[in-house]
Amino acid sequence: MNAASGTNRWILVTGGARGIGLGLVTAFAKAGFEVVFTYKSSADSARQAEESMAAQGFSVSGHACDSTDEAAVQALSAQLLTQRGAPYAIVNNAGITRDSLMMNMSTEDWRSVIDTNLNSAFFITRAFTSSMLESGDGVVLQISSVAAHKGIAGQTNYSATKAALTALTRSLALELGRFNVRVNAIAPGYIATDMFDNIPEAQRKSIRNSVPLRRIGTVEDVASLALFLLDPSASYITGQTFVVDGGLTA
Ligand SMILES: NC(=O)c1ccc[n+]([C@@H]2O[C@H](COP(=O)([O-])OP(=O)(O)OC[C@H]3O[C@@H](n4cnc5c(N)ncnc54)[C@H](OP(=O)(O)O)[C@@H]3O)[C@@H](O)[C@H]2O)c1
Repeated sequence: MNAASGTNRWILVTGGARGIGLGLVTAFAKAGFEVVFTYKSSADSARQAEESMAAQGFSVSGHACDSTDEAAVQALSAQLLTQRGAPYAIVNNAGITRDSLMMNMSTEDWRSVIDTNLNSAFFITRAFTSSMLESGDGVVLQISSVAAHKGIAGQTNYSATKAALTALTRSLALELGRFNVRVNAIAPGYIATDMFDNIPEAQRKSIRNSVPLRRIGTVEDVASLALFLLDPSASYITGQTFVVDGGLTA
């Protein structure tokens, strides 16, 4: 049980119906937090997650919200802040890849990745942080990527957004520090989700062999670091990006 969960505080996770987001939702709920997550297209998975968590006695609810849609984010934040008050934490997890060499990349693929991975984080963070300042305690977590630190051919759009999240994390930490709101980022390496499964099999095999720990990460590997960063025992940590990648970027 997490000490921060004792006062009925809640956490928002974007893109929580599957993948790393679902791993975060599950870990936070099991740690005693009330969890609210958003989804864009995975309504069935969202309902399954709610039912499975409820059957285990946990409080989890999913809301349809395309985080690239500024008006939808504002409507959701108004609803949640009225119903629940300030969140203890917000986790900007929603993200997509649209890979191709830059010379072949469509403007649409460039823009959709910037919109989903970066502009969404801006809309969500701006919508919730002023309430968190008033409560004088809170955490903002960005799910970045090792692509922020290491070049990956075919991912210029994706890596640009992830590096931007790392930079945003540092600057926002300076803005919110005096209100005791900590801002950190997690940069996962390769994690077993649909996003990883979209990589061609031959490439996945070579990726696995290139990881010093010789395995692909799990959503639990990411969630355990997120839980630590939410915990009061991490109360002097802000403005940082933490890599969880099996040694890939060592
Ligand atoms: N898997 C990896 O190897 C890896 C490595 C480093 C970083 N990451 C990062 O970790 C995060 C989660 O990735 P993942 O591997 O779990 O990917 P995933 O399995 O492809 O899931 C992506 C998630 O993002 C949500 N999403 C996408 N666009 C959205 C939008 N406009 N509004 C709301 N939600 C949206 C999806 O919701 P719907 O299904 O409802 O559309 C889904 O829940 C991403 O930021 C990704 O960049 C992943």
